[in-house]
Amino acid sequence: MITRNFFLFLSNNKFMKSKAMKWGPKFGAKHVIAGETMKEAMETVQKLNEDGLLCTVDHLGEFVYTKEEATQAADHCIRALEAIANTGVNCNLSVKLTSLGLDVDRNLCRDNMVRILTKAKECNNFVRIDMEDYSHLDATLDLLNELMQSFDNVGTAIQSYLHRAEADLRRLKGVNLRLIKGAYKESPEVAFQKQEEVDGNYLNIIKVHLLNGSYAAVATHDHRVIEEVKKFAKENGITKDQFEFQMLYGFRTELQKEIAEQGYKMRIYVPFGEDWYGFYMRRLAERPQNIRFALQGLFSK
Ligand code: FDA
Repeated sequence: MITRNFFLFLSNNKFMKSKAMKWGPKFGAKHVIAGETMKEAMETVQKLNEDGLLCTVDHLGEFVYTKEEATQAADHCIRALEAIANTGVNCNLSVKLTSLGLDVDRNLCRDNMVRILTKAKECNNFVRIDMEDYSHLDATLDLLNELMQSFDNVGTAIQSYLHRAEADLRRLKGVNLRLIKGAYKESPEVAFQKQEEVDGNYLNIIKVHLLNGSYAAVATHDHRVIEEVKKFAKENGITKDQFEFQMLYGFRTELQKEIAEQGYKMRIYVPFGEDWYGFYMRRLAERPQNIRFALQGLFSK
């Protein structure tokens, strides 16, 4: 718990971020970030596709303070959609609303999303809004609802550590949702603190969403959950086209391939870009064993 809090603290620490950025994605980050450029990201996606894995790319970006930065972030997303269309890879896009200006100007953020979704529609592609910390939950769901009035190629993510997860999910019946345990530090007022409660609610929301006939992206590295979902789907006549599994790039790569070989849709979340620091610190917080990557990074060139 101390290690988790330490890395979550670092993930939000602007001084440490500025120091780390000077080094570039070393200390293990390069094992979980698909490079800093679009070209590197597309090459990675192409290789993953060749192994039977679908992808979603995320152009990393956090701590956006100005309208210009938010507009630039949206431009990056649009270029990513163009690159996906031009290279013909099987890949969609994941975005964070704070990097598109949610904290700067809500209307600008909406306009950025409209630009991105319009381009995605033109390219016959789908955009998923990642879920950030609790302070952004209502604003995210509110904007999603507004966007869904004009677009059918957008979805978001629901975090099982939140007490209100099932209620939110039921309101989003029919929406393509990524279901996750949740990656941020949240208070006991809003979130379960015990792992078994988070895990229990995770299986619960997956089952509710599937039984509702809705599409679920089950995003986890937890093999026990994956096995349970496969079993639950078989027992309840839920076909393989109603759900997919998702994992992060660089994690449990053998298991990723095994799941794809079994005929399940397996999508890899491929982060890229220069702003990799916060993403990497949250991965270390989730699983301190990931520090192994960091140490390997220290000792390898
Ligand atoms: P968890 O970390 O609870 O591990 C459970 C068990 O699985 C472990 O005890 C171990 O046995 C096994 N295991 C896990 N990782 C392993 C590894 N690397 N190697 C071997 N065994 C391992 N969060 C968020 O708040 N908003 C978001 O939008 C997203 N988006 C997102 C997309 C995708 C594709 C993924 C995979 C995850 C996210 N997350 C996220 C992060 C998510 O909320 C969660 O924090 C992490 O996935 C960690 O939880 P897990 O369910 O993976 O297993």
